[in-house]
Amino acid sequence: MPHLDAQSMDIRAADRFVTAEEQLGELHDAFPGGPRERLHQLPLFLPPHVLRRIAFLDALYRQIVPVHGAIMEFGVRFGRDLAIFDSLRMLHEPLNYGRKIVGFDTFTGFPSVDEKDGEYGLVHVGGLHTGDDYDAYLEQVLEAREQLGTYEHLRKFEIVKGDATETLAAYLERNQHTIVALAYFDFDIYQPTKDCLELLRGHLTKGSVLAFDELNCPDFPGETLAVKEVFGLDRYAIRRIPGVNPGMPSYLVID
Ligand SMILES: C[S@@+](CC[C@H](N)C(=O)[O-])C[C@H]1O[C@@H](n2cnc3c(N)ncnc32)[C@H](O)[C@@H]1O
Repeated sequence: MPHLDAQSMDIRAADRFVTAEEQLGELHDAFPGGPRERLHQLPLFLPPHVLRRIAFLDALYRQIVPVHGAIMEFGVRFGRDLAIFDSLRMLHEPLNYGRKIVGFDTFTGFPSVDEKDGEYGLVHVGGLHTGDDYDAYLEQVLEAREQLGTYEHLRKFEIVKGDATETLAAYLERNQHTIVALAYFDFDIYQPTKDCLELLRGHLTKGSVLAFDELNCPDFPGETLAVKEVFGLDRYAIRRIPGVNPGMPSYLVID
């Protein structure tokens, strides 16, 4: 739906953008080659902003290659970023079987919203849901991807379903050895971002990267407020990556 909100910062809401993406999607569905050829020809359909996101996540990933620990994503949705991280692991450190990739999501969208999250149209209970059983589909995708990589007999990903304000605490209780090298925050909203930041603090090391999809974003003010309350905005440099950074995402490095 174009123009969700008059003040929206969503670059993808412009009419010509929506039309072009829909056209590419339909052309993708009509691709005449078989399933494997379709995978190999994915760049035909890949929008430049998706390629830019891959380049951005690659630049983040390069920073944590020498840092020990897991990659966690908070807000998985359909799993795009998890799949990108999986490919980047294969590219940068195929022998690092300890680089577990863990994704947290309800798969039923926002479980609750706070008044600090503002009034943008997507911000409501159930917003950004993928369907209750999407995690089963995503498991299959990530399992198939394991077969393309090294140490394919080792499960190097985990999907944690449920409200992360509860599931992260339980995960860390079950996995007390956890060090987090990269945490990508993409919940979009205040409360889970704040709670998970607080839970993660004791699991970070010097060099850990915390990245955020929506800092300084008027559509989703809650993410910035969470960082402000947990760390303060002047404690760490909040950085961008020249050349490949999409509009909103940013990151800080624990020192
Ligand atoms: C913007 S989407 C994430 C997009 C994703 N990073 C990608 O690669 O496309 C935000 C996600 O956060 C999830 N979410 C929000 N609050 C949550 C919570 N308290 N616990 C678990 N998931 C939550 C929503 O279900 C939604 O899928």
